[in-house]
Amino acid sequence: MKFTLGALAPFLPLVSLFAPAAQAASNDTTPMQIRLAYAGPTGMVVSWNTYAQLSQPTVRYGLSATDLNLTASSNESVTYTTSTTYNNHVKITGLKPNTQYFYQPQNSNSSTPFTFKTSIPAGDSTPYSVRMVVDLGLMGPQGLTTHVGKGAANPLGPNDKNTIQSVLEDDSDYEFLWHPGDIAYADYWLKEEIQGFLPNTTIEGGIEVYESLLNQFYDEMTPITSNKAYMVGPGNHEANCDNGGTTDSAHNITYDVSICMPGQTNFTGFINHFRMPSSESKGFGNFWYSFDHGMTHYVQLDTETDIGHGLVAPDEPGGSEGEDAGPFARRDAQLNWLESDLAAVNRTETPWIVVAGHRPWYVSAKNRSSTLCEDCRHVFEPIFLNYSVDLVLSGHVHVYERNAPVAYTNPDPAELNNPKAPWYITNGAAGHYDGLDDFVLPLQPYSRFATDKVYGWSKLTFHNCTHLTHDFVASANGTVLDTATLYKNRTCAVEAKTPPSSSSSSGSTATSSGAAAATYTGAAGVVESSLEAVMGLAMLVVAYVSLV
Ligand SMILES: *[C@@H]1O[C@H](CO)[C@@H](O)[C@H](O)[C@H]1NC(C)=O
Ligand SMILES: *[C@@H]1O[C@H](CO)[C@@H](O)[C@H](O)[C@H]1NC(C)=O
Ligand SMILES: *[C@@H]1O[C@H](CO)[C@@H](O)[C@H](O)[C@H]1NC(C)=O
Ligand SMILES: *[C@@H]1O[C@H](CO)[C@@H](O)[C@H](O)[C@H]1NC(C)=O
Ligand SMILES: *[C@@H]1O[C@H](CO)[C@@H](O)[C@H](O)[C@H]1NC(C)=O
Ligand SMILES: *[C@@H]1O[C@H](CO)[C@@H](O)[C@H](O)[C@H]1NC(C)=O
Ligand SMILES: *[C@@H]1O[C@H](CO)[C@@H](O)[C@H](O)[C@H]1NC(C)=O
Ligand SMILES: *[C@@H]1O[C@H](CO)[C@@H](O)[C@H](O)[C@H]1NC(C)=O
Ligand SMILES: *[C@@H]1O[C@H](CO)[C@@H](O)[C@H](O)[C@H]1NC(C)=O
Ligand SMILES: *[C@@H]1O[C@H](CO)[C@@H](O)[C@H](O)[C@H]1NC(C)=O
Ligand SMILES: *[C@@H]1O[C@H](CO)[C@@H](O)[C@H](O)[C@H]1NC(C)=O
Ligand SMILES: *[C@@H]1O[C@H](CO)[C@@H](O)[C@H](O)[C@H]1NC(C)=O
Ligand SMILES: [Fe+2]
Repeated sequence: MKFTLGALAPFLPLVSLFAPAAQAASNDTTPMQIRLAYAGPTGMVVSWNTYAQLSQPTVRYGLSATDLNLTASSNESVTYTTSTTYNNHVKITGLKPNTQYFYQPQNSNSSTPFTFKTSIPAGDSTPYSVRMVVDLGLMGPQGLTTHVGKGAANPLGPNDKNTIQSVLEDDSDYEFLWHPGDIAYADYWLKEEIQGFLPNTTIEGGIEVYESLLNQFYDEMTPITSNKAYMVGPGNHEANCDNGGTTDSAHNITYDVSICMPGQTNFTGFINHFRMPSSESKGFGNFWYSFDHGMTHYVQLDTETDIGHGLVAPDEPGGSEGEDAGPFARRDAQLNWLESDLAAVNRTETPWIVVAGHRPWYVSAKNRSSTLCEDCRHVFEPIFLNYSVDLVLSGHVHVYERNAPVAYTNPDPAELNNPKAPWYITNGAAGHYDGLDDFVLPLQPYSRFATDKVYGWSKLTFHNCTHLTHDFVASANGTVLDTATLYKNRTCAVEAKTPPSSSSSSGSTATSSGAAAATYTGAAGVVESSLEAVMGLAMLVVAYVSLV
């Protein structure tokens, strides 16, 4: 049975529109979609795609741009039904921590090598920043741009930078980019066609459109992800080819996940495309894992499948959005892993614990299973409280909302001044074809800053073991629209910093872990006053939001 979408589409022109352009400087083994992922403090995975399968994907690397005298190889050049490319993955091990390397995937057409820096090891208290985007999709003529399809909203302004440009062009230093789910939005191809934004295809022709959007997105990300580790997690838009279902109301047709080809269901592309550090952290694939970086223990959770307490997906049975995906592991595997992962954290080495999962549960949105993940809250919140998680990040709802620290729906009375409960921030505003969501007003009592009209990304800055700042950066112009600092009253271990490269005098081997300890009582007054300023600003934004 052949589904058609509207008038039967001119299929041939479409093929040439989406076909890979022939590049003079490339062939079927030329690397595309280059991306990095941490593999422990002394490892890095280099992944890239090629049109042809590689018999032994190989990376040349070294400590200087002119001398890539080391090589690492693998036999992992994998693809799946409907994919137009092969995903090549090479894990480089035995690297020095916190050290810059230069590298080239085999047959690179780049005249200069790419670079990466390995993780800052746990226990090293060097201050640093990371960036986070959630719900980031394709930018440009076939994604988020200055116009939208029929019924869509929130196009870019004529002079706005999009989030990929903004992250790329912001020249402040950062360590890695975190993307906890909803990557590329290739699964919106059908919606974009129905809204007259993309040329119509048949459903079968759509297979190619989906892969084309996916490939374009990963190419757009390459200037970032070929030089910074790109840590990802699963979102609902990775699950299948049409977000579980799309309605064409003009023709009274509702498509569901049954139109998806086998290669475009059950997180297949996501599984093939990335290699997150789950073997280093006893996690599961790209779905749940953890890693240390300097003062911080990072946890990526899966809020889409395998939630725990027997729940395979939000709102059991079968998933709330007809996703028809998962489960991937034994009952409660993720939950049990989270318990043991957090139990093993050494808070002297990594005083901060930051968790990200795609779906939020504290956000001023419709309390229904497709937005608020109550199931996730029941499973994860007691564990977060038990292990004093500092910060919980999410997206999925396409807004920016910074909450108070919250325990069982109650704001922590300490607010950001040494709370016991985890701090919750939802930033699903990175942007994609489908625009932004609206808050459900009034905002929840735990909400402290909220905007549903701006695309942006998050910047986390770990100053030391007591102070962590979150900034919301508007992509359009790089302005910080919201900043807030969490203060934790705790004793920091004073550790000698790992020298960036080798040359340290032999006299300074006092990097022993018997380290001196100092109590940093922190500038609580400063925190409070900046909090007041921020809350004043929040009132303004809330007032603005309630007007629209
Ligand atoms: C594409 O499909 C839409 C909705 O199904 C329809 O309104 C439109 O006329 C079609 N366009 C073309 C060029 O066939
Ligand atoms: C290298 O090849 C890629 C993939 O075909 C292409 O997008 C890129 O423009 C090429 N770069 C150069 C410098 O030729
Ligand atoms: C690789 O090059 C570096 C300098 O960049 C040099 O120190 C090292 O000895 C070389 N290693 C090998 C195996 O040649
Ligand atoms: C790929 O390499 C791994 C480890 O190096 C090995 O266990 C596996 O058998 C190899 N697979 C194939 C298909 O060669
Ligand atoms: C593709 O291009 C690379 C780099 O120029 C070259 O090394 C390789 O041999 C070419 N491969 C084929 C199959 O032509
Ligand atoms: C839409 O289709 C359903 C069945 O697919 C049908 O029951 C309904 O009457 C149709 N509505 C209209 C307005 O045609
Ligand atoms: C998804 O894949 C996993 C792992 O292969 C499998 O166990 C599960 O049954 C699949 N789920 C669906 C709905 O096909
Ligand atoms: C969402 O609704 C459920 C069921 O009505 C309720 O138990 C829960 O407290 C609500 N969650 C929030 C965060 O308001
Ligand atoms: C920790 O960082 C904060 C923010 O930069 C700063 O105000 C505070 O003095 C620092 N604490 C120590 C002990 O350095
Ligand atoms: C930057 O862009 C944001 C979001 O559109 C807007 O609210 C803000 O006023 C702009 N700031 C400046 C300085 O242009
Ligand atoms: C935690 O890390 C510190 C500093 O490295 C070390 O002294 C201590 O023994 C560790 N604690 C445990 C329980 O391993
Ligand atoms: C931090 O806690 C210690 C006791 O553990 C207390 O003496 C000190 O006043 C606290 N500092 C702040 C700023 O709350
Ligand atoms: Fe989502």
